[in-house]
Amino acid sequence: PCRIVVLISGGGSNLQSLIDCAARDELGGGSIAAVFSNKPEAGGLQRAAEAGIATRCINHTDFDSRDSFDLALRTEIDTFHPDLVILAGFMRILTADFVKHYRGRLINIHPSLLPKYPGLRTHQRAIDAGDSEAGATVHFVTEELDGGPPIIQAKVPINSGDTAETLAQKVLSKEHRIYPLAARWFAEGRLSLTGSKAVLDDQALPESGFP
Ligand code: GAR
Repeated sequence: PCRIVVLISGGGSNLQSLIDCAARDELGGGSIAAVFSNKPEAGGLQRAAEAGIATRCINHTDFDSRDSFDLALRTEIDTFHPDLVILAGFMRILTADFVKHYRGRLINIHPSLLPKYPGLRTHQRAIDAGDSEAGATVHFVTEELDGGPPIIQAKVPINSGDTAETLAQKVLSKEHRIYPLAARWFAEGRLSLTGSKAVLDDQALPESGFP
């Protein structure tokens, strides 16, 4: 069985969808061993506790460098022996050492159609650019910020009345479907990072231009 550790910073609605899918045995036998937050007030910690999942808070403000925070985080994560580490609204940039340590077993969800709009304020940027669609991307994490090989994308139309908030809600509901699916593929042994490519069922996934 695939042991999963989830890292969050906020409300944890993606975490909740993973918890719910695990409970329905829709994660390919994957189970969530622990949930980590860098913020003590993250709502997702409560969600995890309610589901009977171990929680840990490693508060980045207790550390004087990114290196020392990441080392403490990694050391504590490894006590759970994860096969897969899932970033679900984890809002800290991770060091190259951390990323290397979990290479091939670290995935992220980003609220844009990567390679468009890495970084923050993705929905407002899509609206300001006059885009007709927005979305979310699950990808393997590499040293390049929001730049690792994509695994799955979901799209939503941008309507004339959309604001960053309405768009975020529409995209989130798609996130809640694609993230458990990617986790399931991984848990089933169908998904890997091979060299610098994401591979699903022995087929290299496209680097961009998902349908
Ligand atoms: C999600 O939209 C996720 O894609 C985004 O944060 C939100 C977390 O929501 N992640 C990033 O922006 C990563 N840079 P949640 O806490 O309700 O899952």
